[in-house]
This record gives sequence, structure tokens and C-alpha cells, in this order.
Amino acid sequence: MTMYWKVDAKWPDLQIIRRAGFTLLRGGLVAFPTETVYGLGANAMDGEAVSCIFAAKGRPVDNPLIVHLEDMHKVDTVAAGISPLATALMQKFWPGPLTLVLPGTGVLPGEVTAGLDTVAVRVPNHAVALGLIKAAGVPVAAPSANTSGSPSPTTAGHVLADLDGKIDAVLDGGPAGVGVESTVLDVTGKIPVILRPGGVTPSQIKAIAGAVELDPAVMVSTVHEADRPRSPGMKYRHYAPGAPLVLVEGDEDKTGGMLAEIATDYAHSGRRVGVLAVTEDINLNGNVQLLKLGCKSDPGTLAANLYSALRDFDRRGVDVIVAEGISTQGLGLAVMNRLRRAADRIIVV
Ligand code: TXA
Ligand code: MG
Repeated sequence: MTMYWKVDAKWPDLQIIRRAGFTLLRGGLVAFPTETVYGLGANAMDGEAVSCIFAAKGRPVDNPLIVHLEDMHKVDTVAAGISPLATALMQKFWPGPLTLVLPGTGVLPGEVTAGLDTVAVRVPNHAVALGLIKAAGVPVAAPSANTSGSPSPTTAGHVLADLDGKIDAVLDGGPAGVGVESTVLDVTGKIPVILRPGGVTPSQIKAIAGAVELDPAVMVSTVHEADRPRSPGMKYRHYAPGAPLVLVEGDEDKTGGMLAEIATDYAHSGRRVGVLAVTEDINLNGNVQLLKLGCKSDPGTLAANLYSALRDFDRRGVDVIVAEGISTQGLGLAVMNRLRRAADRIIVV
């Protein structure tokens, strides 16, 4: 049975947090809110507990996990050879949605790192997550708390929809704010490389690091187009709802029109269509359900609403989702990365 614990996002009940910490310490799995998405935590020092994460999610074991710490001063317990640049990034962005890939120390079990000699680390910016890590007294390995391949959870309800009965407990601290996962940044080389775009934007990193590169695998839709992704997680179809997703992207003035055309065609062929749009005044007819994700000029809102919109369409039982692309400026890069990886078909206008 999965325990459900409701807590205040800012001032969580200490007794509940201690109980959740104890559950982790004795090898259990606890889902918890972070500022990005909900995570599924296990004691990172306990290989057996960590392997339960993979079983609960159905996650491929060659995809390593992020280790969550309570503050940056703990980083040398799991990583070594931390460069001045890495330290500067930690000082600027932690606690926050930036994960750093650092040289490992070998102290973590192979289940966490998938046998790599690097380790991904972050300090989340959420009182419940930080309280839990502190209460457990150990580093906490945590992927997003969803079934592998489906959209990440931004509420405790999403977590339970995927994992009820498979995990020990979920801490409900309300909806996650950012809505997309942390930026995964490899800082083992001279120039930092973004392996997964997320809550911290390339220009924010550039302002500290001077330069930043994007892994070429970031903006392609499937592994077939990518040449050897450096982040193991990038090679799987990901963030995908149950219904197939068609992404319409390209010229901002044309995506709305093309979206309407495709959605109407699907509807006329008898399918239930979900439309995820950012353009105002889309002209739709037939059996079409429209969700406005937000304004194109506000990628923060689009990111916050993306996963729950995809899950919403699944609940409504649509046969196909047609989604409108947005600019890759700012947080738009993370949103477009997720949409492209979720897409079965991409139409460029
Ligand atoms: O916002 C987040 O990052 C959330 C919350 C819960 O913290 N966590 C999350 O974890 O998104 P997950 O497991 O869904 O994604 C972790 C990503 C994967 O793409 C994985 O391949 C990559 O980080 N990763 C982990 N360790 C790595 C390493 N040593 N080198 C390269 N990539 C690594
Ligand atoms: Mg994930």
C-alpha cells in the first residue's frame, strides 16, 4: 500500500518528514515534490533500494539517476575533482533546477550511476525535498516519479496514477512550479555541455560560464537521428502520452493554421482529437478538444502546464494529440525538447 501524506509546501509537518526520511533510510521508496517535477526517492547509498526505483518505474537500468543533496557543501561526499566553474555554477543556481554531471568518487552503488565514472548531482529548491533529504541523512537518488516513458508528474495525483501500490509513500506538497525537469549540464570538460535543457536556460548558464554548448542529441526526436547521445536518458522516447502526438512547428504565423487543418482532418476521419495550442483564435471544428497551454510569449507558463495537459488528454481518452511548437528561446528550449521527444510525427511549416 502507498501511504499518502499531505504537507505544506513551505512549512511541512516535521513529524511526517521524519517518518518519510525513516522510510527512505530503511530502504523504501518515497515520492516527493521538487520545484521542477515530483521525484521518486531512494537512499542513494543502498543499491538494493535504488534497484526498486527501476522496478517500480519500469526504467532501463542503463539510465543513471540524479543524486539529490541538501546543500552544496555535501557535494564532495559523492563527487571529486570539482572545478572552479562547477563551484561557481553551484553557488549561482543551487538550490535550483540545475543538475551537474561531475567526476564520481566510486562511493555510489552502480545502480545509481549505471556504472559510469561520472555522477549527476543537484540541490532542489523545495522545502519538502530538502527536509526529506535532511531527515534521511543520506544522499537521495531520484528520477521523476512517473512510469518510464510517460510524462513526468507535476502533482501527487500524477504520481499515484502511475505508481500507486508500487511505492511506499508520496508526499503531497501541491503542484511543482517549474513543470519541466532540471537542466542537466556536463561540467567534466573545459566548456560545459547541456545534455538535457530544463529549468535553467542556456543564457543563464552562459552568463556564469562564459560559454555553453548544446549536446547535438538535444533537439532531435528519436535516437535514430541522434549520433550517440552523451546522456543515457536521451536515447529513449520519452515524456510521451498514451495517444500518438503530432507536433506542428516552424513559422510562428503558420503553425496555428496548419494545426487547425490537421486537427480538423483527424476529426473528420472519426478520431477524437486533442489540440495543444498557443495561438489565439484557432478555427477548429468537429470532435476536437482544445487545451490552451498559455501564451507563446510566456514559456514559463507553457512549461508549467505541459505535462499535466498531456496527462489530461489521456484521461479524456483522445485518439491523437496535435501540438503546436513554440520558439526555443529561454524555457522554450526545454518545452520543445520534451515535445520533440514525445512526438511520433513532426510537421515543419
Ligand atoms: O528535475 C529533475 O531533474 C527531476 C527531479 C526529481 O529532480 N529528476 C529527473 O530525473 O528528471 P530523471 O531520472 O528523470 O532524469 C535524469 C537525467 C536522465 O536523462 C539521465 O540519463 C541523466 O539525467 N543522467 C544521470 N546521470 C548522468 C550521468 N552521470 N551522465 C549523464 N547523464 C546523466
Ligand atoms: Mg524522467
